[in-house]
Amino acid sequence: MNSHDLVVIGAGPGGYTAAIRAAQLGLNVAVIEKESALGGTCLRVGCIPSKALLESSEKYWEARESLQAHGIKITKADLDLPTMLKRKEDIVGALTRGVAGLFKKNKITRYEGHGRIAGLGKVVAEGKEGPVEIEAKNILIATGSKSADLPGVAPDGDRIGTSTEALSYDKVPKHLVVIGAGYIGLELGSVWLRLGSKVTVLEYLDRILPGMDLEIAKEAHKVFRKQGFEIRLKCRVTGARSDKKGATVECEGTEPIVCDRVLLSVGRIPNTEGLGLESVGVQTDAKGRIAVDGHFQTNAPGVYAIGDVIPGPMLAHKAEEEGVACVEHLVTGHGHVDMNCIPGVVYTHPEIATVGKSEEELQEGGIPYRKGLFPFMANARARCLANTEGKVKVLAHSLTDRVLGVHIIGPRAGDLIAEAAAAMAFGASSEDIARTCHAHPTLSEALKEAALAVDNRPINI
Ligand code: NAI
Repeated sequence: MNSHDLVVIGAGPGGYTAAIRAAQLGLNVAVIEKESALGGTCLRVGCIPSKALLESSEKYWEARESLQAHGIKITKADLDLPTMLKRKEDIVGALTRGVAGLFKKNKITRYEGHGRIAGLGKVVAEGKEGPVEIEAKNILIATGSKSADLPGVAPDGDRIGTSTEALSYDKVPKHLVVIGAGYIGLELGSVWLRLGSKVTVLEYLDRILPGMDLEIAKEAHKVFRKQGFEIRLKCRVTGARSDKKGATVECEGTEPIVCDRVLLSVGRIPNTEGLGLESVGVQTDAKGRIAVDGHFQTNAPGVYAIGDVIPGPMLAHKAEEEGVACVEHLVTGHGHVDMNCIPGVVYTHPEIATVGKSEEELQEGGIPYRKGLFPFMANARARCLANTEGKVKVLAHSLTDRVLGVHIIGPRAGDLIAEAAAAMAFGASSEDIARTCHAHPTLSEALKEAALAVDNRPINI
């Protein structure tokens, strides 16, 4: 029988990163993945293809709307959607093949098929050629998540779909209705808005981007409205149906909305079905997430879980950190993830990025804090880029000055947040950031200035 020190189920960012780290540490590692391409949702139908389309659609929008301000006249910018979609597929292909190359380099055995636990130390890969039984000293579940359903809204794989379909519409929809103003709805809504769709976002809550710092989310709402998004808050969608001509979305208290495409983006749920969890008694919580201890071990001996199948934000980089910490702990006895230092980024324009506690969380926790704000309008580099929307917000403990949270809406916020995450990981104070020399002129100076503003001494405002 095939036998391995570690069998990882799922080759997304969490699973494949864990497998590589475990191989580096000397384990004999195998990965079971049901798709022919490695990389999981993130590489195949998530983070990567959406970012490819966000880049392309932003260039199209710039050519039509904003290059004039730089003194560049473009008489006519035409959209070549098939080329745009092919470019996205090429990027996905190159990256998924890259993961296969890394598996080879690290001598990781790959089984193609659906992975199922068949008892303690036993896993089965159900592939096209039938089941393969595998002996595993340790099993790591890294099966990720799938789109959550909404009662009354049945995705038909065409007019009513999830993010997977919205990455490949063959025509620009005339009217796209997005259900849910979260990460996916706003990113993919942005893509099609820039390419010419009317986009209506229906959100159940009284705000967009739940969980995000409210001041930043409110600013984002204003910016998106200015871009042309129609955002309806407090709007509970109760159903959607499609026919040959289009789709109709029903929401409580208003007239049905007729459109030609519907994107369902109301969250994601863990992939735990058919995993054989019951064969070893692995416990799940009320939301179907696998319960683990601080070292990612389930209640079943030798069975571990990381990423979207366990509690915490459903983010690729969170899964990667957990995968590394899990296998390092397994081999060396050490391995830890600081859940307070996991950044989140929404890749809209401008980008929105966050790490640590929001102002609301600090208030709810009764934690005394000081706040520093700095607008990109006052940042020289942002002016040169002609991207002056947004601001940086630094929240620091009012007694110790330790940075508790940083929230940014603005140009390249997703890159800028890395400095804040590193500072927080080292337990920095706002004074530490404020006294660090930042190159001029860069966007990063906005973070330094916001840190100075915590102590009421910003220079450029
Ligand atoms: P989400 O949880 O971010 O947002 C879902 C939204 O749908 C919420 O605002 C919720 O209030 C709303 N909603 C729920 N039921 C509704 C109803 N009946 N009618 C109207 N609105 C309703 O979920 P999303 O955008 O689907 O993303 C799923 C996961 O994928 C998230 O956990 C996110 O972290 C991750 N993701 C991360 C990205 C990134 O890092 N840039 C990009 C895309 C997804």
